[in-house]
Amino acid sequence: MKKTSHQSITVLKIGGSVITDKSTDEGTARVEEIRRIASEIALSDTRLVIVHGAGSFGHPQAKRYGLTGKFDPLGSIITHVSVKELNRIVVDALNDAGVKAVGVHPMNCIVCDNGRIKEMFLEQIHIMLDNGFVPVLHGDVVMDTALGTCVLSGDRIVPYLASELGAERIGIGSAENGVLDGNGNTIKIISATNFEHIKQFIGGSANTDVTGGMLGKVLELLELSDTSDITSYIFNAGNAGNIAGFLLGENIGTAISKVEYSGAVL
Ligand code: IPE
Repeated sequence: MKKTSHQSITVLKIGGSVITDKSTDEGTARVEEIRRIASEIALSDTRLVIVHGAGSFGHPQAKRYGLTGKFDPLGSIITHVSVKELNRIVVDALNDAGVKAVGVHPMNCIVCDNGRIKEMFLEQIHIMLDNGFVPVLHGDVVMDTALGTCVLSGDRIVPYLASELGAERIGIGSAENGVLDGNGNTIKIISATNFEHIKQFIGGSANTDVTGGMLGKVLELLELSDTSDITSYIFNAGNAGNIAGFLLGENIGTAISKVEYSGAVL
C-alpha cells in the first residue's frame, strides 16, 4: 500500500456541534452553517480530506440503543443510516459550492478491534486525492472484531488518516475557540510538556456525547504529535472565516504540537 504519494495533505474535522443542533434528540442539521462552511472550503485548493462529526444524527441514537455498552444490530443500523443522512447533506452542500466532494462511509472501509481502528481500506482515498476529489468521512458505527459493532468517532478517524496519508496539518473545527484555560482564554499550544498541567481545564461535552468530548480529542492529537511531525489546531469553526483561514495556512486556536512550550506555566 502506498503511503505518502501526495504533497501537503490537510485533514479537517468539522464537529457535529457545529453542523447540527446537538441539544436535540433527533437529527437537526444547521443547513445555513453547512452552506457557509462549504463556501469557505471552496476557497482553498489544498489537498483535503474532511471528516465530520455526527452531532444529533448520531449521539442520541447511539445513547438510546446503548451502543457503547452492548451489541445492538438494529440500533447500529438506525444510527448508521442517520449519520449517512447527515453526510449526504454535507456532501451535497460542498458540491453545490463547487467542491468535488465524495461521501466515504467508515462502516464500509474500516474495521475496529475493541473500538480502535484495526484496518482501513485507503486506496480509493489515495485515488480521489490524486484526481482532485475531496473525500468526506464521518463519525459512524463500524464493524468490530471483538464487539460486533462499535461507535467510531471522527476524532479517532482523523489522526489515523492523517498518519496513514502522511498529512502535514490537522484542523479540528469545534464549537469552542480551542482549548480554554481556567480563565476562559485560549491556550496557544499544548505539548507533552504542559499537558499534565493543562489537563485539569479540559472537560467532556455539555451535550449528549458518547465519544469523549474535548479531552478525547486532545489525547488523540497529543499521541499523534508524539509519533509524527503533524501539528493539529483546535479552533472555532462556528466563527465565519476560521475554516478558510486555517485552510490558507493560518495558525489558529490551540496548536497541539511536538514543539515544547518554553514559557512560564500557563
Ligand atoms: C460520533 O462521531 C459517531 C456516532 C455517535 C455514531 P463524532 O464523535 O465524530 O461526532 P461529534 O463531532 O462529537 O458530533
